[in-house]
Amino acid sequence: MEFYEVINNRRTIREFEVKPIPQDVLSRILDAGLKAPSSDHLRQWAPVALTERETIEAVAKEIHPLSCHIQKPVTPQQEMFKIAFPKQQSMLAEAGCLLLPYFKQSSSLYKPENVFTLIHFGATWALIENMLLAATAEGLGCAIHIPVGEETSAIQKILGAAKDYVLPALIAVGYPAPDAQTPTQVSATVAEKVHWNRW
Ligand SMILES: Cc1cc2nc3c(=O)[nH]c(=O)nc-3n(C[C@H](O)[C@H](O)[C@H](O)COP(=O)(O)O)c2cc1C
Repeated sequence: MEFYEVINNRRTIREFEVKPIPQDVLSRILDAGLKAPSSDHLRQWAPVALTERETIEAVAKEIHPLSCHIQKPVTPQQEMFKIAFPKQQSMLAEAGCLLLPYFKQSSSLYKPENVFTLIHFGATWALIENMLLAATAEGLGCAIHIPVGEETSAIQKILGAAKDYVLPALIAVGYPAPDAQTPTQVSATVAEKVHWNRW
């Protein structure tokens, strides 16, 4: 797929066909992630790739679907909430692979002194975006889930990640279900958003 086609085709997919993804495809996606720019050129990432159905389902079980009371969405954001909230668990359980982009964080991520103390968190989102685009190029879809409440510690009990590593998000990768729902995308064009030369 041509680069700008990948950019334009990437959408969040929250419904997958439950089937495995070949190892070589996953390796290319992970390799794309690991080629992302990194703060201080440290690349202090340790992604965990879950491909075993049993482990994928055990992790998904710890994520709680949210109830959404929006019946008739008016805005694209409400449309997204209506689709996304109830699928937070199933989109992970149906994935062919769960990518868990752990990164090393020595200072507190939750009480940052300034943006500099967030650089490794920032670099991890560069890794994540590279993987989202690579998955799109491979004909796969992805969904993101940000762990909340007790979800992080429950996942930690299953995986036993090193203590100074943080999991900022879970990325579900899979073959999009033929009827997967995608909300209207919020418009963000150069004409609407960009300030040229001064604010
Ligand atoms: C930082 C970040 C956090 C997100 N968290 C979640 C999440 O917890 N659950 C979810 O279903 N989608 C999550 N998303 C996906 C967004 O809802 C999605 O990107 C947005 O609705 C636009 O849709 P698109 O990706 O198809 O363009 C997240 C995306 C980003 C960038």
